[in-house]
Amino acid sequence: MSEEQANEFDVVIIGAGPGGYVCAIRAAQLGMRVACIDKRGAPGGTCLNIGCIPSKALLHASEVYSELEHAGDMGIKLGSVKLDLNAMMTYKQEGIDGNTKGVEFLLKKNKVDEIRGAATITAADTVDVELLDGGKRQLKAKHIIIATGSEVSPLPGLEVDEDMIVSSTGALELKKVPKHLLVVGAGVIGLELGSVWKRLGAEVTVVEYLDRVTPGVDAELAKQFERVLKKQGLNFKLGFKVTGADIQKSGVKVTIRKSDDSGKDETISCDRVLVATGRRPHTQGLGLDAVGVKLDERGRVHTDGHFATNVKGIYAIGDVIAGPMLAHKAEEEGVALAELLAGKPGHVDYNLVPGVIYTAPEVAWVGKSEEELKADGVTYKVGKFPFMANGRAKVNRVTDGFVKILADKETDLVLGVHIIGPQAGELIAEMAVAMEFSASSEDIARTCHAHPTLSEAVKEAALAVEERALHM
Ligand code: NAI
Repeated sequence: MSEEQANEFDVVIIGAGPGGYVCAIRAAQLGMRVACIDKRGAPGGTCLNIGCIPSKALLHASEVYSELEHAGDMGIKLGSVKLDLNAMMTYKQEGIDGNTKGVEFLLKKNKVDEIRGAATITAADTVDVELLDGGKRQLKAKHIIIATGSEVSPLPGLEVDEDMIVSSTGALELKKVPKHLLVVGAGVIGLELGSVWKRLGAEVTVVEYLDRVTPGVDAELAKQFERVLKKQGLNFKLGFKVTGADIQKSGVKVTIRKSDDSGKDETISCDRVLVATGRRPHTQGLGLDAVGVKLDERGRVHTDGHFATNVKGIYAIGDVIAGPMLAHKAEEEGVALAELLAGKPGHVDYNLVPGVIYTAPEVAWVGKSEEELKADGVTYKVGKFPFMANGRAKVNRVTDGFVKILADKETDLVLGVHIIGPQAGELIAEMAVAMEFSASSEDIARTCHAHPTLSEAVKEAALAVEERALHM
């Protein structure tokens, strides 16, 4: 192959996160010649390197640590349980490396040209790459896909230095357990990482602008979540905003004020601050202005519903476009776009993108919340079942939480499922499949679920829709 041929592709993807690398694999499976570029030293994007995977490693390890502290209740005598944070961080890194190497292998297996460097789009069919190990490469492409993900949104007055004031990236790398961690934002990142450090011994205070946790999540679920987290010892300052932070030798003095500016300023002394107030699309430095790719009112790459931007031949998927910033949503979009480019009917069902918060207990949902159904004027029935009444949850002593199924009042079609409880993130998959097949609550209620499993709580919630739960 000549040098010119080596730089000619059907598809050039910028970003090797879950959106980009999955799109690359699917496009290669469909016979396209594909390049996937990333400026990080390893593929996998935020998710594998500084997001989902490392946070799940620490969530898991800190849960085991916390369980072992109470192992005596199960008749397991351990003596004192000690934390070796360095070793825990090594365990986390091994999890990252295992996963990123797996992606490298998959890209190679599918003959995707994995290029490490910073990409700029210089024309609708050209991408220039500054290679990480020096030198440049100019690629020609029939289709260019922007899959550059998102980055931490800055919060005015709180400059992240990844030491005293950290983002999720720094919060995954703390060198020692802070005595007092102040978390700004009771969203997914704040509560997942807040739980990690709480379990490892920190006092954790969460300052949240709104008067509730996890905006967007079904309100009843969020209320129960807040109760459970308070029971676990997290402190909340709901309806407060941070107005400033003073870094001192001994820690950080944070000033907070009621969100509506009423009352007096309060100060909280802590030794580390985690800023978790959202992420923004990563669009800088890609040459989008120069080629005329339009952004929407929120700075996301504007697409037409089939991932095409306003510039012919340039597409975008994942966190950089509209929709929830979730790895699995980006993956679905990657697959759908590759299939569309191959002339197949690619499609993403945005109503059935599950959400999961990986705390203990987990929080998971799919479909509509009660608030959304009310706003849409849909009449619905509710079936609820507590894990307290589930045999398996009882013996495992993980009884916090419930399953809630919302079904159309007229047709019984399942419209939304909301779970807080043990393994909610796994249980929700059954509901996503059921809803994808347009299940009624009756269908779920009449499906045999193995005993004793947590999934029986789902079946019982379906039975409860018609007020015929058996164990309640
Ligand atoms: P988020 O949008 O989930 O939550 C941010 C929270 O900060 C909100 O509750 C908001 O009201 C609050 N907030 C905003 N400004 C504030 C201020 N000035 N003072 C106090 N509170 C303020 O954002 P988060 O947690 O940073 O996550 C970013 C993205 O990453 C989200 O889209 C999330 O879905 C995704 N993510 C998903 C995970 C999962 O699926 N398990 C894990 C981690 C992140």
